[in-house]
Amino acid sequence: MKLAIVILAAGQGKRMHSDLPKVLHSLAGQPLITHVITTALTLQPNQIHLVYGHGGDQVKTALANAPVTLIEQTPQLGTGHAVAQAMPFISDDQQVLILYGDVPLIGATTLQHLCSRADANSMAVLTVELANPYGYGRIVRNAQGWVEKIVEEKDADATLKLIKEVNTGILAVPASYLRRWLNLLTNQNAQGEYYLTDIIALAAQEALTIHTVATDEVHEVMGVNDRLQLAQLERYYQTQQVNRLMLAGVTVKDPARLDIRGTVQAGRDVIIDVNVILEGPVTLGQRVKIGPHTVIRNARIGDDTEIFANCVIEETIVGANCRIGPFARLRPETVLAEQVHIGNFVEIKKSSVAHDSKINHLSYIGDTEVGYAVNIGAGTITCNYDGANKHKTIIGDRAFIGSDTQLVAPVIIGTGATIGAGSTITRNTPPETLTFSRAAQTSVPSWQRPKKKK
Ligand code: UD1
Ligand code: CA
Repeated sequence: MKLAIVILAAGQGKRMHSDLPKVLHSLAGQPLITHVITTALTLQPNQIHLVYGHGGDQVKTALANAPVTLIEQTPQLGTGHAVAQAMPFISDDQQVLILYGDVPLIGATTLQHLCSRADANSMAVLTVELANPYGYGRIVRNAQGWVEKIVEEKDADATLKLIKEVNTGILAVPASYLRRWLNLLTNQNAQGEYYLTDIIALAAQEALTIHTVATDEVHEVMGVNDRLQLAQLERYYQTQQVNRLMLAGVTVKDPARLDIRGTVQAGRDVIIDVNVILEGPVTLGQRVKIGPHTVIRNARIGDDTEIFANCVIEETIVGANCRIGPFARLRPETVLAEQVHIGNFVEIKKSSVAHDSKINHLSYIGDTEVGYAVNIGAGTITCNYDGANKHKTIIGDRAFIGSDTQLVAPVIIGTGATIGAGSTITRNTPPETLTFSRAAQTSVPSWQRPKKKK
């Protein structure tokens, strides 16, 4: 059967105490809903329908490019009512898988297994055993062990409340049955809502087979209702990610102090010190070392490169055998070749630096092409912005830029040129030649220091 997925995400998320809709709160750098959509896509569904409500405009904006159809549910009259909003868009020949926008870590394998248990004439419900089932719908079975109904916490009597097998909410059901049952739902219950879970009793009455799939992966089915649960899931997810890296050959000095908000590919014998954040796609070559307190976002770091403490590296390609930091900032569109040294308090933006060049102290290099074996002295500034436009600086191979120099772009420093310290360079400089611009040094022998008045 073709698969249609319905993701419920209309709820308010009251307990978040937030102006942001719950499903847009982020886990590992991505909105909760994005995790669910990403997993849903791995099942190769025919369609994904997302039922939204609270914070509709924000949800629509955030998901403008997501491969889902957005269906508004106003007002929100319960999970059954929410699914009913999607049914006009789903044909009878499909299997419908219900997911939740606030259950972000549901796994593709679990869902595949669940879907494989349902067919044109049977359904499957994902369940979990909880030591403390409080708050969840209970799975009620008959004497033969078949599922009879699901009873919500607020509707359960003392005996039913003892049941520890609970409804995760996730289920797979043929569309034709679902459509019919949804039309039969009433809101005669403790919460005055149209419960999706009431379709179970209708299925049982028709003697339709209701399979249950029990999962041991509690985190996969945990919902986010408040910020404590969000933090717990974040920690769990981070632990999983970091464990995976360590098992693949990365040394992590403290697994609790590395955060991965994206995907990391790492070579063998990478060493990561404490308080490092890796965001977006990050690739680390063989034997890369990352010092403490560093943020790396959308970057590729070459083999044997060492990044010292307190660096921020964003949208940058760093070659092999480089030394970066401490306290370096590499901004977007920076490309460093092999054996480049970038030292403390150096900022590089939208520039390329060829092999064996050094920018070791206190410099700003922006919109610049730096050749190979260039040495840029302390306090060198490329003046790339005239207040209206950005201009380029080109620094030839083997050039030597003396300390405290301003290169006023657009400007070209010739190959092998030497620029004397303290220069303000406003015109192109010839190759293999010393250029400087500097007031002549004077000494005044007759001068005397002022003395304090009596
Ligand atoms: C639901 C289940 C319960 C299950 C639990 C698992 C029902 C009636 N109960 O209870 O059996 O144990 O989930 O977490 O289904 N939503 C909408 N529109 C609505 C109402 C809800 O989109 O009108 C969405 C919410 O955003 C949320 C999800 O549906 O993502 C679940 O709704 P919620 O009210 O939290 O249901 P529970 O009471 O937790
Ligand atoms: Ca819930």
